[in-house]
Amino acid sequence: MELITTTAAMQARRSEISGTVGVVPTMGYLHEGHTSLARRARAENDFVIATIFVNPSQFGPNEDLAAYPRDLPRDLALLKAEGVDLVFAPPSSAELYPPGYQTWIDLAGLPTRLEGAHRPGHFRGVATVVAKLFNLTRPTRAYFGQKDAQQCAVIRRMAQDLNFDLEVVICPTVREPHGLAMSSRNAYLTADERIRAGVLFRALSAAQAAHRSGERDAALLRRIMSDILAAEPLARPDYVSVADLDTLEEIDGVADGPALASLAVRFGRARLIDNVILDSKP
Ligand code: PAJ
Repeated sequence: MELITTTAAMQARRSEISGTVGVVPTMGYLHEGHTSLARRARAENDFVIATIFVNPSQFGPNEDLAAYPRDLPRDLALLKAEGVDLVFAPPSSAELYPPGYQTWIDLAGLPTRLEGAHRPGHFRGVATVVAKLFNLTRPTRAYFGQKDAQQCAVIRRMAQDLNFDLEVVICPTVREPHGLAMSSRNAYLTADERIRAGVLFRALSAAQAAHRSGERDAALLRRIMSDILAAEPLARPDYVSVADLDTLEEIDGVADGPALASLAVRFGRARLIDNVILDSKP
């Protein structure tokens, strides 16, 4: 497995690679959620590139950039075991944001909702770094997790709006045994909190079950989720949402087509997000 650390070397190397290229962007400290993306990319492409970069521009001033967990040697071993061909891991933020850097990608509507409303500037940082990583690695297919549903919507929209010639592939959320969606930030939870945090998925699953049995009133689906969260004293919800899957606007009624039920919950030292798609089609 090759390791590349500079943008110049990445672009030079990319121009030598032929065939289909699958790209898996990450911020490292990998878990089974990330490796599931790498495995899917491996199965679908001739060449697989994973990127590891803790992107400062997507962290707010009061967020956990300095504390974000890192373990490059372990990450490289995990990616090698998945058959990844090349890892692009710039060691410093100056490699992607050199002095004088000033070009940003701002989506007009999507970042104002859900996570964006609680994390101003977050999706500007995500869209910008992902566009840069797309230009550096020129994927045939790029792999993202449904766990970050709004990120998926932003990247799909950005790729379409800016005419990136690639396929955005969204992969299912990988969970711990008690239902907690895997996340590098779960490192901030105690063992007891991890088990209790299964309440997010229990709430989402209850909404999904109610929708499957015919409930179409979005307010009622939100109430089902809020009531279940309220029974867990450690859970302090930021939002409980039922929204359109593409625009992420809150809806009144869930039609038969897909909608997004999503939650953000403060839990111990962590802030957890999770979601399920409400879809009547099996
Ligand atoms: P990071 O949080 O490291 O996640 C990298 C990718 O793994 C994202 O596409 C994310 O949705 C996916 N992922 C995380 N947890 C998952 C889980 N439990 N199941 C399935 N997929 C999961 O998301 C980012 O990094 C950054 O914003 C990035 C896109 C790399 C831009 O900096």
